[in-house]
Amino acid sequence: MILVIIPTYNERASLPRQVDGVRAAAPDAHILVVDDASPDGTGEWADARAGEDAHVHVLHRPGKQGLGAAYLAGFAWALERGYDLVSEMDADGSHRAGDLPALLAAASSPEVPDLVIGSRWVPGGSVVNWPRHRLVLSTGANRYVRLALGIAVHDATAGFRVYRASTLRSLDLTAVESQGYCFQVDMTWRVLRAGGTVVEVPITFVERDAGASKMSRAIVGEALVKVTRWGLVHRARQLAGLFRRG
Ligand code: GDD
Ligand code: MN
Repeated sequence: MILVIIPTYNERASLPRQVDGVRAAAPDAHILVVDDASPDGTGEWADARAGEDAHVHVLHRPGKQGLGAAYLAGFAWALERGYDLVSEMDADGSHRAGDLPALLAAASSPEVPDLVIGSRWVPGGSVVNWPRHRLVLSTGANRYVRLALGIAVHDATAGFRVYRASTLRSLDLTAVESQGYCFQVDMTWRVLRAGGTVVEVPITFVERDAGASKMSRAIVGEALVKVTRWGLVHRARQLAGLFRRG
């Protein structure tokens, strides 16, 4: 059983197309919309859709609490109901439903990866219509993450993913504090530190044509502070290990 979690805040103009796309691309999958009481009626639209389609579900949250909190609530919902694969996708069309089957196939491959990332920054991956400052931010952030944490993942901030439910179950999700897009790096780092395997599948990320991004200075700041802290703790541990061996 597959669950695709779509977090939403003011995505009334985009969500219907994304739900249709996912239903067509992966007809067996269920969809969970996690809406933070969007003032634009996204939650009401999702309720109506769920009333017509048994594959669509809605989780309402009382207010905008960040991407991390929305996904953690979605993960808990999925694990309570026994889904085997749990996918993350944006509502705004940036994550093309047509790329979903390739991610699901990779997650079910014999290598049994713990996490499959739809990656913009591996050969074959790309971004369409992003302004220059977003390109610089994303490539810079990912370069910094690789350097600070010493990991090989090229798109650790990506929000198009498939987790094995067993991977999510093995992690202490109550310890995850990241609120913004830094949540994605946090989860990647947790999977890798637990000895899990991450596979990147190239995707084409297409900038939204309706609604607005929720990216903010606070989100960038949180990621910078947290990644730097995780990197320093990691390096201190490595050094302590060296001294013990020496
Ligand atoms: N429930 C909920 N609560 N949903 C949220 C919140 C929130 O506080 N903030 C954002 N979302 C939802 C949006 O409605 C959308 O469906 C998805 O999360 C992505 O948000 P965008 O605002 O469209 O993100 P972006 O396009 O600027 O950023 C993309 O790149 C980031 C950095 O690489 C996304 O793919 C992010 O997931 C990614 O981390
Ligand atoms: Mn977006």
